[in-house]
Amino acid sequence: MPELSRRVLCAALLVTALAALFLSPPFRSLLNPQATMNPDSELEFQMPGVIRAYTSGRVERFDGTKTVPPSPAGDPDANGVASKDVALDPAANISARVYLPPGLEPGKKLPVRRRPRRRGPAVVVSVNYRLAPEHRLPAAYDDAFAALKAVVAACHRAEPDGAEEAEGELSWLAAHGDASRVVLAGDSAGGNMAHNAAIRLRKEGGVEGLGDAVSGVALLHPYFWGKEPLGAEPTDAGYRSMFDPTWDFICGGKFDLDHPYVNPLASPEEWRQMGSRRVLVTTAEQCWFVERARAYAEGVKKCGWEGELQFYETKGEAHVFFLPKHGTDKAVKELAIVADFVRRC
Ligand SMILES: *[C@@H]1O[C@H](CO)[C@@H](O)[C@H](O)[C@H]1NC(C)=O
Repeated sequence: MPELSRRVLCAALLVTALAALFLSPPFRSLLNPQATMNPDSELEFQMPGVIRAYTSGRVERFDGTKTVPPSPAGDPDANGVASKDVALDPAANISARVYLPPGLEPGKKLPVRRRPRRRGPAVVVSVNYRLAPEHRLPAAYDDAFAALKAVVAACHRAEPDGAEEAEGELSWLAAHGDASRVVLAGDSAGGNMAHNAAIRLRKEGGVEGLGDAVSGVALLHPYFWGKEPLGAEPTDAGYRSMFDPTWDFICGGKFDLDHPYVNPLASPEEWRQMGSRRVLVTTAEQCWFVERARAYAEGVKKCGWEGELQFYETKGEAHVFFLPKHGTDKAVKELAIVADFVRRC
């Protein structure tokens, strides 16, 4: 009997376009010229081009709110990728879009030699988690962790010999997901979340069916910050005031700027416990958080974490340039680095 394709890597991709809270420069609420004292027009916070939150609780989003439908009937699209939306954890109301790589027929188990090593090594799970300010942190962290548990449980639903098709929405994970090879990945805020999910994994003593470490964590242009300027970060108050309020806004002032959620450098003891065997950190020369990423890559080794670190920096580009500039040489290179990392996990 041919070896079956259960060895396909199961990756929980924690960031979605829906969560693009940090795609444009955050600015402290500059009162809109038309604003009156009406709470529905009085700004609490805004990031131009991304979000406006009013003191009334009304929220307007301008970026990353549209989603394309999944591939029809779960069949592969023009790129050979099949996708479908699933209720990952119905009790917690967490949904996700699951993607199957080219070359795998949905629901069909293929010999491992036909596994598409070159292009698509992973089943990707893109989690639709709760966003601030309607749901402040730690809501997003809780959803990410619940999603990880649900994915692992779904992967274990497969028959041991792979002979039977698992039923239901999560059948793709049951058929192709390998819970022994999970990678947590995200960009920007999603990078922050992937880091925190790995920290929590070890803190909580692991997850059934996974243990207390994932195979890899990929932090792409991760969002981290801190009270004090770091490295070559601008120190002037005007610059700091563009970024300091962002954290306050997403956690509702619950955690300060040196909390380990946002500044791992401040808590090396916790950091060294991170539950991952490998870490990839990427950044870009013009990224707002470039100094944080460089310090992360240095710090994760110094803090005593035992694992393999890979660091990659793109010259001359800005924060998450690979989204608006997808398809450019540099973006393709970044994607190749990530795919290679995932393949090795
Ligand atoms: C469940 O999540 C969706 C967004 O994915 C949201 O629109 C809906 O209000 C949520 N339902 C509950 C009961 O929270």
